[in-house]
Amino acid sequence: MTGRTRKIPRDAVHHPLFARVYEKVGPIADERAGVGARRRELLAGVSGRVIEIGAGSGLNFAHYPGAVSEVVAIEPERRLRQAALQAARRAEVPVDVVPGAAEALPVKSEAFDAAVSSLVLCSVRDVERSLAELLRVLRPGGELRFFEHGRAPGRVQAAVQRAVDRTVWPVLFGGCHTARDVLASIEAAGFEVVSHRRLRVPEGSTRIPSSPCVLGKARRPPLLA
Ligand SMILES: C[S@@+](CC[C@H](N)C(=O)[O-])C[C@H]1O[C@@H](n2cnc3c(N)ncnc32)[C@H](O)[C@@H]1O
Repeated sequence: MTGRTRKIPRDAVHHPLFARVYEKVGPIADERAGVGARRRELLAGVSGRVIEIGAGSGLNFAHYPGAVSEVVAIEPERRLRQAALQAARRAEVPVDVVPGAAEALPVKSEAFDAAVSSLVLCSVRDVERSLAELLRVLRPGGELRFFEHGRAPGRVQAAVQRAVDRTVWPVLFGGCHTARDVLASIEAAGFEVVSHRRLRVPEGSTRIPSSPCVLGKARRPPLLA
């Protein structure tokens, strides 16, 4: 043994301060800003084997219906992954929490009936690669459920979003960006958007750069005979 200390490798995503805050604030937002109700809506009717990317502290786990046979929950941030492991123990469906990043999912191709992305595509390093990975791991005809915030429809708010994305926002919120056009990216990746609706979080008059959201279903096109 030499006098040198061995360095523990950093996770692909390392936002310990954000993780600490999200662990505390996430459940409050679920209750007071209506996010919990959106999670229920997001996951209603999902069934079979499910992969969830960027599962965070596991706030979706309690909302999976009984028809889900297994959830593989991918989370790259160590602290959030620990919290997700605890949430998985309380969940009513089997949840396997796995380290990994959306850009290189550590699972086989065409292995899942459904995929879930909630409040994640704002933070991944590469949206295109992440969506290509989701397409790869879903079976043909498999569903993508998404609840994401993104680009505002109005020019002024979109300009504000671009400004905060270039400055404080990603630093303060774990690599998050507010101006991404998530729905356009989902379509460009090759998914068929089945349904979607635009909403604001929080609802009502309070507007923050991450307020404009989209919630919906898309699917990997089925194989043609
Ligand atoms: C705002 S949190 C949302 C957490 C959770 N999905 C939810 O709905 O509460 C963003 C999450 O994306 C994760 N994340 C960031 N970069 C990622 C990447 N490249 N691949 C997968 N997850 C990522 C973060 O670690 C964090 O858990």
